[in-house]
Formats: sequence, structure tokens, C-alpha cells
Amino acid sequence: MAIEVEASAPPRPVLELRRVVKSFGPVVALRSGSLILERGSIHALIGENGAGKSTLVKIVAGLYRRDAGDLLLDGESVDFSSTAQSKAAGIAVIYQEPTLFPDLSVTENIFMGRQPVTRLGRIDRRAMREEAQEIFGRLGVALDPDRVTEGLSIADQQIIEIAKAISLDARVLIMDEPTAALSGVEVERLFAVARSLRDEGRALLFISHRFDEVFALCDTVTVMRDGSYVDTTPIADTTVDDLVRQMVGRDVTELYPKLAADIGDVVLEVEGITRAGVFRDVSFSVRAGEIVGLAGLVGAGRSEVARAIFGVDAYESGSVRVNGEALPKGRPRTSTSRGIALVPEDRRRQGLVLDDGVSRNLTLAIRSKLARWGLVWTRSENEAAQVWASRLEVKTSALDAQASTLSGGNQQKVVLGKWLATEPRVLIVDEPTRGIDVGTKAEVHRLLSRLAQQGIAILMISSELPEVLGMADRVLVMREGRLTGEFPRDQATPEAIMHAATTVTEAVR
Ligand SMILES: Nc1ncnc2c1ncn2[C@@H]1O[C@H](COP(=O)(O)OP(=O)(O)OP(=O)(O)O)[C@@H](O)[C@H]1O
Ligand SMILES: [Mg+2]
Repeated sequence: MAIEVEASAPPRPVLELRRVVKSFGPVVALRSGSLILERGSIHALIGENGAGKSTLVKIVAGLYRRDAGDLLLDGESVDFSSTAQSKAAGIAVIYQEPTLFPDLSVTENIFMGRQPVTRLGRIDRRAMREEAQEIFGRLGVALDPDRVTEGLSIADQQIIEIAKAISLDARVLIMDEPTAALSGVEVERLFAVARSLRDEGRALLFISHRFDEVFALCDTVTVMRDGSYVDTTPIADTTVDDLVRQMVGRDVTELYPKLAADIGDVVLEVEGITRAGVFRDVSFSVRAGEIVGLAGLVGAGRSEVARAIFGVDAYESGSVRVNGEALPKGRPRTSTSRGIALVPEDRRRQGLVLDDGVSRNLTLAIRSKLARWGLVWTRSENEAAQVWASRLEVKTSALDAQASTLSGGNQQKVVLGKWLATEPRVLIVDEPTRGIDVGTKAEVHRLLSRLAQQGIAILMISSELPEVLGMADRVLVMREGRLTGEFPRDQATPEAIMHAATTVTEAVR
């Protein structure tokens, strides 16, 4: 009889958190984190920027130790004091920020700390390469396993992180915003791998700010707010609106609040710029008050064009003019003083000084404006920072808290604020809402729209089609380093854009 009882008892969840608490000094990052993760399931964890998702993940990963609450693996209480212990227990984590060693090769990064050895005790390079190749094949990517990871795009870095996690053969795989830097095709491949891992009976936890992904991939969803568990529901029983309400605690009515703006003269003019092997003969212009969307797949060369215009990268031929005047190549400082701002894609690396405070970071690009008698006074720095911190709803314990202590999404907001504070005439934003939660996303869109209304020329690179369609007056499309399409707002359809982004046309060859 006892056997029957056991057979009908529900299977124990592979991982369970009960009211887990974590504070950093006075900051309570996790107030009451609860989660039940089942085998053979893909579970979404969602919540606003700073809700405590990554903190929860880092506790499971053994990176942080919890202050209180229970952590159970197969029903047994566990306490990881290092990431090695968590790994050994079969938990693999893909962190929000890639954690690769730039000097090491792709393969070395994947097998870091647990390289297979030959019978002679040497590191078995062949075995490592073969396994790396095998995983890349599964993910459908062509990455050279021998190259160093320095200089790889964030998408490629993310893929290496994913390969690393897969190679661990873990029973719990946690992915903290793995898709933020990936293109549609790459996301599809990752999802295919995730589904096959699920079908093998593994448990997956998936953190994302993109609802379409959550609904496409996951079977269950847990919502967090302000460091606490809110609710867990089967995906089939919920809607985006319900989830948003649970996350934000209010309705978010309009995600793309586009305002009508007067479109004026050409401000930014790009003519035939070429950089061998990267982009070729790219020409377009952006007018005052206009938002031009630059769509395309990741790797199409959009960020590279933006960086070349701004002057952080070189280009060989062609020209850039601002208000009719030539802009010198390779001089970002001149670009800034001429009223151009670039909000880069890789904000953590290119935009943020992690050891500096939030207000210092927010005012980094306007220090010369703030200076009086050659000094920047803390008070004026804090005043200027306060404006942007509140406009972008930056969630931080204090304005002088170190940027490194902010959640991923809040770090993004700081970099956005830093450039908006320069009051540019031409604003180039690369993936402006990547990693930003739904409430603030609407806020960022409203802000962009308002800036356009004030006559700023905006070039917005985005891989999110709804964002491009919702915000742009005109859409440009790039594919393999070339402009392959241009659509006014009323003709920009998802089909037209995807076609231009993916199809080899005669004109391009
Ligand atoms: N090391 C730390 N020191 C101080 N505060 C921290 C630290 N790590 C996280 N926090 C704070 O804890 C809160 C939760 O952060 P966490 O990174 O878990 O959020 P998140 O839900 O992952 O957000 P996002 O969607 O932006 O990635 C934030 O307010 C953050 O500033
Ligand atoms: Mg996070």
C-alpha cells in the first residue's frame, strides 16, 4: 500500500526557494523570494528592473549567501558557499552580463576550470574543440573555437555563455536575459535547444523582459515585485495585461506613445560611408523632429555604422555632415561638442564607470557644463543627476551608490540618462530599451518622442520590430553591411522589413 501512496505523491520539485531574503547593508534586494521549479519545465521569472530576479539567481548560483529562508534541491535543504558547489549540484547559470575572459580562446572559456585531460594528464585540446564544435552545431552558429573572445560582439559572447552552460550537462539551467543581445534567428535556435533540454527532463528558468518570448517558450510564469514573490501561473491561464499589472502594480496603457512632431530640415547627412568588410556605401539623412528607425538582424552592421558616424570607429570613404557642415572622422569629442550623442549598445562596457556613483555617471558627459571655476560641485552634480534619475525612474538606494550595485536594467537607464543630459541635436540610440522593463520602456519611448517634438533628429537602432514600427517616422533596413530598404511609416510593415533584412536582392549583389 505504501508504494501506491508514494506513486501518487506529486514529484518533488528539483529546485525550491521559500521566502529567501538577501540584503546588502541597508538595501533589501530580496525581501521574500519564492519559486518552485519542476523537471521538464521552462519557467519564466519576470518583474521590473530591480525586482530582485538576478539576486535570486545569484543565490541559487552560490554567488551570494542568503540571509534567511530556505533553498531546497530535490527536497533537501542546501547552502552553497561557492559557485563551484552550485555547479557540482547540477546548476548552470547564464548571467545577465557575460563573464568571459577576454584573453582566452572561445574553447578555453567554455571549459574554464574543468578542462578534459588526456591519459597523460595533459589538457585534451582536441576533445575540447570537438565538444565546442558539437555544441555550436547544435546551436547552429559558426564561431571559431580558437579565437580569443576579446572583441566579439555581445551576441557571440552570449552564445559562448550558453555553450558553457550546455556543456555542463546541468539538470537546472538558469538563463538571466539570455536573448537581450540575440537576433531573431539566434533566439529561435536558443529556444530549440531549450525545448530539447526540457524534453530531456531538465528544469529551465528563463528571465526576460520580452513577453513574446515568455509566451512562446515557457509553460509557467512567476512574477516578482519589489523583492517579493507575487504569483505563479500556468502560461496558458494568463495574459500580457495580467502579468504587467502584477509586475507594475498598475496598468501600462500605451507602450509606444508616439507624438506628432514637425519634421524640419536635414540635420544629419550620411553619404556613401564605407568600411571594408563591415559596411558599404551607406547613405541616409535624418531631419529635425524625425525618428528614423534602423532595423535589421544582429550583425547587419547597424551598430558599426552608428559608431563610425559618432567617431569611435573609423571609416574609409564617404562623409558625414551635421547641419550642412562636415564632421571630422574618428573624433568623438568633436561629435559631442557638435551636438551628437551616441547611446551605445554595450552599455555596461562602453557607457558606465562601474566604480563611480550614480550621479557621477549621470553627469559624466556634461561635466564641463556643470563646472564653476574649474570645479564640479557635488551639489550641482546631484541636482543635475536627480533630474535624470527621476525622469528615467532609476531605482537606487542613493544617488552616490556605486553603479555596480544597480540592477542590470537600472544601469542601462543611467547610461541613457548620461547622454540625454547632454541635450543633443542628433541622438543616436542603439537598442534603447534592451533590458528595460515594460513600465520604463513606455517612459523611454515617451521621452524619445518628446525629444523629437523638440526638434532633435533621432536615429534609433532596434531589433525589436514593434518598437521600430511604433516609434519611427521612417524605417531603414540593413543587411550584411548594406542599406536594403527604406519605408515611410505608413508603408513599414513587419513583412516588408523582414524581407529587406533577410532577402538577397539583385540591387545588393
Ligand atoms: N551588490 C549589491 N549591492 C547593493 N545593492 C544591490 C546589489 N545587487 C543588487 N542590489 C539591489 O537589489 C535590487 C535588486 O536587484 P536585481 O539585480 O536582483 O534586480 P533584477 O530584478 O535582476 O533587475 P533587472 O531587470 O534590471 O536586471 C536593486 O535595487 C539593486 O540595486
Ligand atoms: Mg537582473
